[in-house]
Amino acid sequence: SAVVFALNACSASNGATAPPDGAPATGRPGAAGLPGAAGIGDPDFPADGNGGYDVGHYSLKLSYDPPTKNLSGTTSVQATASQALSRFDLDLHGFTVKKVTVDGAAATFAREGDELVVTPATVIGKDARFTVAVDYAGKPDPVRNSSNLGTYGFIPTKDGAFVTSEPNGAKTWFPCNDHPADKATFDFDVSVPAGTTVIANGEMTKPPATSGGTSTFTWRERDPMVTYLATITLGKFEVRTGKTASGIPVYAATDPAYSHQLASLYTTSAKVTDYWSTVFGPYPFTSTGGVIDDFSAGYALENQTKPMYGGFAPDQSIIAHELAHQWFGDSVSITRWKDLWLNEGFATYAEWLWSEHTGGSTADQTFEGHNAADRSEMWEYPPGVARRDDLFHDSVYTRGAMTLHVLRRRIGDDKFFELLRTWTKDHRHANATTAQFMTLAQSIGGKPVKDLFDAWLFSPTHPTITR
Ligand code: ARG
Ligand code: ZN
Repeated sequence: SAVVFALNACSASNGATAPPDGAPATGRPGAAGLPGAAGIGDPDFPADGNGGYDVGHYSLKLSYDPPTKNLSGTTSVQATASQALSRFDLDLHGFTVKKVTVDGAAATFAREGDELVVTPATVIGKDARFTVAVDYAGKPDPVRNSSNLGTYGFIPTKDGAFVTSEPNGAKTWFPCNDHPADKATFDFDVSVPAGTTVIANGEMTKPPATSGGTSTFTWRERDPMVTYLATITLGKFEVRTGKTASGIPVYAATDPAYSHQLASLYTTSAKVTDYWSTVFGPYPFTSTGGVIDDFSAGYALENQTKPMYGGFAPDQSIIAHELAHQWFGDSVSITRWKDLWLNEGFATYAEWLWSEHTGGSTADQTFEGHNAADRSEMWEYPPGVARRDDLFHDSVYTRGAMTLHVLRRRIGDDKFFELLRTWTKDHRHANATTAQFMTLAQSIGGKPVKDLFDAWLFSPTHPTITR
């Protein structure tokens, strides 16, 4: 499902203008249709995502061969047209595209940068459901970013691949509407050399099958997911499965280099998932877990149901952070990248809560520590407007968390935690914005909060308001 932007920055540049008054682009037979926009309308990431349709489901049927690094197969995208479509784009970086069909009929296609431009044989009517199938093959080329993003997307490793795609690396392994405003369900059918384990989101639908030296893994994520949280991490892994104390299925896996971490990854992930369920509201997904690979990404990523830890042994704090993202970011997803504090500020605040819960510093002490420290870079960067070239700045994390603490002081513990639970309930498996959070904070808190958010989220100075 997709969020429609009021301002679609891309439609003009794509030549897709609104139909003239009285001539709506309808689904009636013979309607001319218009090209879908080349971007979904996020002003900071104008090429990301696409316009004119809303994805409901991705079905990935892929093979990967670690020695040659060749990824090949078919991705089928089930979508609904939000306008009569003469043409539309998918995001795809690299690969040779061999064939594209729309509802089974051959479509023409062209590559324009990271856009795969598809022209179906006949116009797709407004509100029509359609399936586009893309056959492709090649060596994935992950994004190597010059800003603070590091390497992300489908990253080949010595025994497989480490797949973490935030913010826009899903296009390095499957054609998609690569923006968090369009969530969809997924199923994965991935073939690899026998002895390799494939770890995707959700649960396996049947045990892996091996024949002729090839193993096929089938996974399904039944809850809507943003593209950057999808994964098919693969390689040699040791796996432990079971259930949390409250009964949520757990899947934990470690590269053999981290096998001594498997028990603690499993146990901590289970414990944290159950605890957050009491604090943030019911766990939003059908399983939980985590994966440690030996690729040194320098970061972790909250892949839905299976956070990834890249080349380090995660401590409780980072596990608490990535699992808090299952509520904040994964279930309740952002609509525009500038609202990223809704993910990172909340997950960082969860670290403070976990510390307090386990007998470490209280959230209040953590807040005071940051507030007293010399943090000029943080005070210069208003976390309510994450910068496209510095998305994961410390301010988005720490000052975002501080914002929540000041809000908590103002409205009191009962209302604050009621607010968090209402937020995760109201926007479960959907998208939300900072403006919606501010409105809900005001209505549940029953106090004016504009001054607080202005100072903490939007001003380039050290706020003096602390409650
Ligand atoms: N969302 C991740 C985290 O908190 C950070 C991802 C950083 N991504 C990147 N490409 N460097 O924990
Ligand atoms: Zn995070």
